[in-house]
Amino acid sequence: MPFATINGIRLVYDVRGQGIPVLWIHGFPLGRWLWDPQVHALADIARSIAVDLRGFGGSSAPEGPYTMETYAADLQGLLDTLGIDRVVLAGLSMGGYVAFAFYAAYPERVRALILADTRHQADTPEARANRYALIERIRAEGTPAAVEAFLPRLFGATTQRERPELVETLRRKMLTNPAAGLIGALQAMAERPDRTELLPSIQAPALVIVGEEDAVTPPDLARQMAEGIPRARLVVIPRAGHLANVEAPEAFNEAVRGFLRELEV
Ligand code: MLT
Repeated sequence: MPFATINGIRLVYDVRGQGIPVLWIHGFPLGRWLWDPQVHALADIARSIAVDLRGFGGSSAPEGPYTMETYAADLQGLLDTLGIDRVVLAGLSMGGYVAFAFYAAYPERVRALILADTRHQADTPEARANRYALIERIRAEGTPAAVEAFLPRLFGATTQRERPELVETLRRKMLTNPAAGLIGALQAMAERPDRTELLPSIQAPALVIVGEEDAVTPPDLARQMAEGIPRARLVVIPRAGHLANVEAPEAFNEAVRGFLRELEV
């Protein structure tokens, strides 16, 4: 497992493929494995870097507090270590929150954005309170509390009905995350800033992707986000929920491939 020491912690990552550098940022409570269907299928066009954020998978899980800015600084350090100047930044859900923080801090390093199943708004007071309640449950019961809370919301109705084995495989992977990292991430999400005002200032081309059945960050919200970013386009993926990239990898990859091709010319 390749790793780099960044900001005093260990960050585990994989690099695969050749072409445009793409940095893939996973959501919650996931890991770099989320992007397996992309890094393999796009290896002929993209040099993919898939990383475990601090607190996830094989990366260190130091004591918090964590913030979106901390994750972004880790990623910037990783790019420096790999000698990569500019990337296509691809984030799903919480990964999108990190991508916004990264763009806000280091816009010159972003060649383009892929924002999948994510949102630009901050948490509502109710969502924030739910996160802090879940943090208390994780402190008492460990990682399974987070997985059981999120799992039912992550997949679309089609996947839940037709592919229970996929849900089960991902459930097992989610359970490998350390509780300390999940607590840090929930706090980082609860305290993240609203990015509505960032949207019109984004100069990079952006691909906004959303699963048609995404109940966490629904298509209407994705449409609103795409309309707010000057050079954005929206792709809605049929028969997929919040994890559109694993639920419908072919449609997802086709959208990404088309987007990357346009960047090449
Ligand atoms: C995620 O998939 O990263 C989470 O659903 C994001 C969130 O809880 O806001």
